[in-house]
Amino acid sequence: MKDTKLTIALAKGRLAEKTMEILEAAGIDCSAPKEKSRKLVFNDEKNGIAFIMVKPTDVPVYVDHGVADIGVAGKDTLLEADLSVYEMVDLKIAACKVAVAGYPVNKKRLTSSTLRVATKYPNIAKKYYAEKGETIEIIKLNGSIELAPILGLSDVIVDIVESGRTLKENGLVVTEDIADISARLIVNRVSLKTKSAMISPMIEKIKQVVKDMV
Ligand code: PRP
Repeated sequence: MKDTKLTIALAKGRLAEKTMEILEAAGIDCSAPKEKSRKLVFNDEKNGIAFIMVKPTDVPVYVDHGVADIGVAGKDTLLEADLSVYEMVDLKIAACKVAVAGYPVNKKRLTSSTLRVATKYPNIAKKYYAEKGETIEIIKLNGSIELAPILGLSDVIVDIVESGRTLKENGLVVTEDIADISARLIVNRVSLKTKSAMISPMIEKIKQVVKDMV
């Protein structure tokens, strides 16, 4: 990546596709990362841009360390990681929310006095309940979180709700909303200063594309 002027970290998967549509509309050539391949680094030598494809939760880490100048990550990932990157644009895609969910009140199974919360977002959950002054026990899981209350592993879950279908099909309901989520464009703090000539106009164009989208 010797002649790279700018590195952009994209979250592998669904979000990458939607993100690339916005970037292309803003005049950033994404033909390299759009290639159907398992490569993790794509170089657009003509424009001096490198794209790296990383796990969604790792996007803020790469940007925070300056390995990538720019990245696109879900607000859930940003809240959970709590790093000092600049959040520059709400891309208004991948909208969902983080919420507390569990059985409807009449079915709620409280097996101990401390609320047991299963989640892949331990930091978001801890902060939310700390602000409410409630003591909880966190049970960190990595997926299929809805199983935890069903199997009696936890009383509630803190998780992403998009269509609400997973909750419904598992007999659970949202009991409290925590935060609205969407994809955000983030920028490394140093890069924003040192590469401002390249980054600032790019951000302005992306903001305009998002504005035209809604
Ligand atoms: C997420 C989330 C819920 C589901 C919510 O899981 O953890 O399970 O999507 O979407 P819905 O409201 O539209 O049903 P994901 O698909 O990322 O898989 P995971 O269970 O492996 O985390």
